[in-house]
Amino acid sequence: MLSVRLGLPLCFDGTVVKLLGVVVVNPLSTLGRCCSTVVERQPSRHNRFQHLQHLENHKRRARLTFSTATMAESLVAVKQEEAKQFMIKCLQAAGSEPGPAEEQADVMLEADRQGHFSHGMNRLASYCNDLLLNACDSKAKPTVVKESASTAFVDGQNTFGATVGNFCMNLAIQKAKETGVGWVVAHRSNHYGIAGWYSMKALKEGMIGMSFTNTSPLMAPTRSKERCLGTNPISLAAPAENGDRFVLDMATTAVAVGKIEIQRQKGEPLPLGWAQAPDGLPTTDAGLAFEEGCLMPLGGPELTSGYKGYGLSAMVEILCGISAGSLYGQKVRQWAHTGQGGAANLGQCFIAMDPSNFAPGFDARMSDLLGQLRGLEATDPNNKVLAPGDKERANVDKADATGVINYHMSQINACEALANQLKVKNILYTKM
Ligand SMILES: NC(=O)c1ccc[n+]([C@@H]2O[C@H](COP(=O)([O-])OP(=O)(O)OC[C@H]3O[C@@H](n4cnc5c(N)ncnc54)[C@H](O)[C@@H]3O)[C@@H](O)[C@H]2O)c1
Repeated sequence: MLSVRLGLPLCFDGTVVKLLGVVVVNPLSTLGRCCSTVVERQPSRHNRFQHLQHLENHKRRARLTFSTATMAESLVAVKQEEAKQFMIKCLQAAGSEPGPAEEQADVMLEADRQGHFSHGMNRLASYCNDLLLNACDSKAKPTVVKESASTAFVDGQNTFGATVGNFCMNLAIQKAKETGVGWVVAHRSNHYGIAGWYSMKALKEGMIGMSFTNTSPLMAPTRSKERCLGTNPISLAAPAENGDRFVLDMATTAVAVGKIEIQRQKGEPLPLGWAQAPDGLPTTDAGLAFEEGCLMPLGGPELTSGYKGYGLSAMVEILCGISAGSLYGQKVRQWAHTGQGGAANLGQCFIAMDPSNFAPGFDARMSDLLGQLRGLEATDPNNKVLAPGDKERANVDKADATGVINYHMSQINACEALANQLKVKNILYTKM
């Protein structure tokens, strides 16, 4: 029995709780009981959904027990191919077609390779939930509703966000090759993972790529007590010489929800400017912030120009939800809502631009600019000045050099529980 708009609840014992501003009645009694019960009784599709909720509880409970001191000891190594195949198997077991499962797994794997763990394997259970509740249809194929030489309006047909995103960005690149620019907007899409996956597709063609998506309302616009817009990410990727590049890929809130969750788990206060309390004032109380789910825009309060982050988030909403005629603003389903109540109907925007249509020598100037930025004298000699995308590239290089991704044990525990539930072989890992 779940109340309105189900979130991913903590393991409260059948009580009514509020999580990220969403009221949830958690039907669980104890974690152990719920896990074993469902595995034993060959659950129906809906029961499997409930069980996946239990897995999230398990994961969150596990997180509550780790401290910074034990974090390094809790890391394990998973071969990249193993991680990908595990994700594909889970998605297929939840009802996905093989091709779309691989597309979504590729984006999750890339997020983990880049070090954005919040958008990698961590998202697997919620994608499975959406499949199990028929809130997402992996069999569907995106279609072009209307187009001009340089624009297209796409119906994502409620398939995976990765499938819609890949389709739209490929179309934008094709149009940019023909006309110099391709601008594609999609409605009826789903969570597409890291925005940079799509903008970076344009790099391979020597183009500038941009990607945006709207998301569930979590951010309170400047001067508002209420949340209205999402973490609405922005990504712009631009090529430079010899494979170098600039890749900005960022949420438009001060921080992602996951960072607030981690402060709460560590029992540490939030820096001012991350989240606000119900009275609309910034709070340092991580528990309260997590419960209320009211993030501040990038920049924090008005005094430190948070209205610019608010403006950027609204800009993304205009490019996505408003342009696409999808859900937008407060109409988008709640964060962590896992399929109950129907499709997400997100709006997304993908742009490819061929810089050779402007001044010659774009790549050389980009390299020069990146060199200027990275060559600046650092305020701390141990922390050199970076260009956007450098951290992620370093993480990818490390993952490729070792062939593995280092996951926290809590992620592995969640994988194991998911594997049990979906009756797939558990993920293989090595303790470090
Ligand atoms: N699909 C969705 O609904 C959704 C919503 C929000 C965020 N996301 C994704 O989450 C991921 C994480 O977003 P985030 O905002 O937490 O990222 P972040 O804050 O870690 O990084 C944001 C950007 O800043 C750059 N950066 C970081 N440190 C830097 C430094 N010292 N100097 C120069 N540049 C630096 C990074 O390279 C990156 O381009 C992104 O991939 C984003 O697309 C997805």
